[in-house]
Amino acid sequence: MQTEILDALTPATFQYAIERGARLLRAGEVVAFPTETVYGLGADALNAEAIAKVFVAKGRPSDNPLIVHVAGIADLRSCGVLDDRAERLAHTFMPGPLTLVVLSNPSIPLIARAGLQTVALRIPAHPVAAALITKSGPLVAPSANLSGHPSPTRAEHVYDDLSGRISAVIDGGPCRVGIESTVVDLSGEQAAILRPGIISVTEIEEVLGEPLLIASRTGDVPLAPGMKYRHYAPFAHVRLHIASEPPANLLVDSGRMILTPARHVNKFIGHDVHTLQESTLYALFREADLRMMREILIYACPDELDAGLLDRIRKAAEE
Ligand code: TXA
Ligand code: MG
Repeated sequence: MQTEILDALTPATFQYAIERGARLLRAGEVVAFPTETVYGLGADALNAEAIAKVFVAKGRPSDNPLIVHVAGIADLRSCGVLDDRAERLAHTFMPGPLTLVVLSNPSIPLIARAGLQTVALRIPAHPVAAALITKSGPLVAPSANLSGHPSPTRAEHVYDDLSGRISAVIDGGPCRVGIESTVVDLSGEQAAILRPGIISVTEIEEVLGEPLLIASRTGDVPLAPGMKYRHYAPFAHVRLHIASEPPANLLVDSGRMILTPARHVNKFIGHDVHTLQESTLYALFREADLRMMREILIYACPDELDAGLLDRIRKAAEE
């Protein structure tokens, strides 16, 4: 299969990209599209055969459920059961980088939710995603990478992983956020955070008016099914050095990439030292792999990093 690249970067081509993408999706094909977090691999959320193609294209285990992406709050209600907590979080943070796990409506095919009673729902804020979903209807969309690769934050990343395996990728430029959405599970008595992201625990707790269970911290809340897989990991070894800044005599060679918070970077001009931030983390992981680097060294104090960024670094550093 030849993968079409649909350019949504210019006003002259935007409309064609959306219409062509939506037409392919309605015909049961798989189309990658940008969201504000990372690129998603879309398929019609009400078409079990189309959803099956997503699992095949990514090489994704069938026990890992997908997020259903919709255009607005009214559409959330046609996919799942929204209690008062869900309504409040949706009205505060959606459209935006938040995913809510709620009791599913029977209309969502079991394959999308890996057989679970619950469904994960999100309203992406990216104009391409919004326009596409408005035309195509609800879409399942995992991150548009091969399973086990870092999530794609540019159309080129999607193409590198999935060219020949999907019908099209819509190019909307680099993703603003760069790490995946915060996932909050509202299916139990107490709300739980299954995956940290740029919408923080504190912000969510403020809206809920009660503390969140934090899966990764307590160990007694199951993580999102997808969190058990080795994720977000480049081939290069990622090592997190707990230090306020890289050592002055840092040994830089062509096999090493260094990441550190912005304020230290300019001390190492000319070296392979880059700013540690959500928006470029995965792109740098991919660059390190393309350049066949041996290691990615990260110098930072965990307390100066947001939980979402720290989580992705820890995952990538797991052996
Ligand atoms: O930012 C994002 O969320 C991106 C963009 C494309 O929207 N999507 C994304 O999807 O990261 P994916 O499939 O790569 O990650 C979805 C996560 C997985 O860890 C999955 O296990 C979890 O959400 N998840 C999905 N449905 C669930 C459910 N019913 N219960 C618990 N966890 C669920
Ligand atoms: Mg993913």
